[in-house]
Amino acid sequence: MSNPTVQQDEVFRSGEGDAWFRRNAASLDAHAGHDWILDSLSRLQGRADIRTVCEVGCASAWRLARLPEVLPRTTRRAGFDLSEDAVRHGRARDPALDLRFGAASAPPFDEQFDLVIVSFVLHWIDRALLTRSLAAIDALVAPGGYLAVADFLPDSPCRRRYHHRNDVALYTYKQDYAAAFTATNLYREVSRSVFHHGDTQGALQAAGDGDRASCVLLHKPLNAYPER
Ligand SMILES: C[S@@+](CC[C@H](N)C(=O)[O-])C[C@H]1O[C@@H](n2cnc3c(N)ncnc32)[C@H](O)[C@@H]1O
Repeated sequence: MSNPTVQQDEVFRSGEGDAWFRRNAASLDAHAGHDWILDSLSRLQGRADIRTVCEVGCASAWRLARLPEVLPRTTRRAGFDLSEDAVRHGRARDPALDLRFGAASAPPFDEQFDLVIVSFVLHWIDRALLTRSLAAIDALVAPGGYLAVADFLPDSPCRRRYHHRNDVALYTYKQDYAAAFTATNLYREVSRSVFHHGDTQGALQAAGDGDRASCVLLHKPLNAYPER
């Protein structure tokens, strides 16, 4: 029996990801100001062991392109997205990045990274693929590595109809996604920035239920279970 809820990923894969990219390409390319995720990652600046990085749902990889601003010692920057246009654009702009087409539920990389970033992607993921996506993201994070999870942070979980498409029922789902990783006991929260989703100045603008977001930096210890 086919699962109608899986439709959402297919809609993004077959064109809505590209449509999102077309609507936002100019502002992504021009993004030179404050970024709350780069700000969080700057806390890892002294860590010489963070060499390899992967961004899940990286769009045109504008953040990976800027990553050396805060982590200058990285040797490999990889990313993937469901928008082929975004991936093509990112590759042309910065050939040093390894950018691929793919979904969070089945990443196109068969390796583990010292740092994985997933920023404003999980709220788009089809609920039927959420746990598979979380497991696939966890599999990308090397033991001892870090995971940065940024997304909307409402008072309680909610969904909102995606207004760019009226022909299909698409939703964004907002909740504390970092909590899903810490609940496994495989991750420890090391920092949490809470901010207004629209704030690109680092201005500490007040945020309410609908526009509050967070970037949570998680550590995946080598041994999550001390014996006693
Ligand atoms: C709101 S944008 C965020 C882009 C970027 N991470 C950032 O922080 O600027 C969401 C991105 O996730 C991608 N996306 C949506 N569903 C995805 C999925 N299941 N797997 C991978 N990427 C996905 C979209 O194509 C889009 O580029």
